Amino acid sequence: MKTIIEPFRIKSVEPIYVNTPAERAEILSKAHYNLFRVAARDVLIDLLTDSGTSAMSSEQWAGMMRGDESYAGSESFFRFEKTIQDITGLPIVIPTHQGRASEKILFSILGGKGKYFLSNTLFDTTRANIEYSGAEGIDLLCEAGKHPTVPAPFKGNMDTTTLESFIKEKGASHIPLCVLTVTNNSGGGQPVSMENIREVSRICKENRVPMFIDACRFAENAWFIKQREPGYANRSIGDIVREMFSYADGCTMSAKKDAFANIGGFLAMRDSELAMDCRNLLVITEGFPTYGGLAGRDLEAIAIGLREVMDEQYLQYRIRSMEYLTEKLMAAGVPVMQPAGGHAVYLDAAAFLPHIPASELPGQALACALYLEGGVRSVEIGTLMFGKYDANGHTVPAQMELVRMAVPRRVYTQSHIDYVAEVVIEVFQKRDNIKGLRIIEESALLRHFTAKLAPIDNK
Ligand code: F0G
Repeated sequence: MKTIIEPFRIKSVEPIYVNTPAERAEILSKAHYNLFRVAARDVLIDLLTDSGTSAMSSEQWAGMMRGDESYAGSESFFRFEKTIQDITGLPIVIPTHQGRASEKILFSILGGKGKYFLSNTLFDTTRANIEYSGAEGIDLLCEAGKHPTVPAPFKGNMDTTTLESFIKEKGASHIPLCVLTVTNNSGGGQPVSMENIREVSRICKENRVPMFIDACRFAENAWFIKQREPGYANRSIGDIVREMFSYADGCTMSAKKDAFANIGGFLAMRDSELAMDCRNLLVITEGFPTYGGLAGRDLEAIAIGLREVMDEQYLQYRIRSMEYLTEKLMAAGVPVMQPAGGHAVYLDAAAFLPHIPASELPGQALACALYLEGGVRSVEIGTLMFGKYDANGHTVPAQMELVRMAVPRRVYTQSHIDYVAEVVIEVFQKRDNIKGLRIIEESALLRHFTAKLAPIDNK
């Protein structure tokens, strides 16, 4: 088989400013060993997130010029609405400025004390919006999803047995919504099978619990279904996507992922009463229902991006990039999450740095080492992000110590990915020299964004 090439040419480029390890050591120290504090200019390959970092196509840029900036009833809104209706089959479309704005609106209406929202895995902002309303978020991930280095085809699936028993135990009246996140970002970008979507939907319908899809990476999920699920190999991505949404009562979407947009999102649904409540809140928080916190030009870019992302050449290249990096790392013995996810490669920092205990933040130490070695920026998903303290002030570690390398869409080429593999492998070879970190300053909420850290030297 021939090399799977990037299915695009590059028309506009942005410089990468090369710096030296000595300069990076200085930068890292000034940033207090927190990569969120490092300026983008000082990063060579930025794998912090795949959100809002996509390269837009020439068609999208052309669409930007067509953007109709009318306050009410803009042409761009009607194109946006029709595209989403066509792709998802969901009749009601409400634009928002990004995914969490959709979540804020939805969970302000449906949430509240004593309520439970069930999911395969809620993304951080989704969980935060649920908890902010006073409700509880419950993750019911399937067993296969809990073992990072054991491969399985659909590790994002929800555990339907516990779903049924949870609904029975708490009563459907306390469960306003079930949310299936596709692909499962927090679980490593792992896909959810059509069979699982269908089964979750059946259980929800039987119990009159509505089911929404957190659709950020819907096209990547559809590609995995086409590749891995019996009966879907000859179906088009558009067809698979439509079937996925046919089981749902609605969706929340961040257009910063599978719509190649730098900003934007939407809510879509079938229930017109719920939609009325959402629009009421939209008007006081986001904007009028035909722009919802976006410019007309953003609506155009999203509408075009949503169709482009379902292109099979693109999806093949996209998913292959993650597999390619995963394979290179595995061949060198690097502990990496398997199989490769849709948008990111996850390193198992606990296995990578067994000499660093969770209290000394092995994930963050690894993320810093990758930056020092090659200017690669990743993100820790471990004890810095999710750790807590017990009553005695001792660290309660996160379940896993992971480092996520999320790949922006259509931005980096194969040689960039080769370079990333080289950096990770070099760090792996020198792993015994990597030291742990301690927190010297932190905030009460979401501390990983702003915390200041220092290396633990005396070991
Ligand atoms: N749901 C999922 C599954 C996400 O991955 C994100 C964002 C959101 C909702 C929220 O969307 O950022 O537009 O408000 N994930 C980004 C990330 C931030 O880096 O994974 P948003």
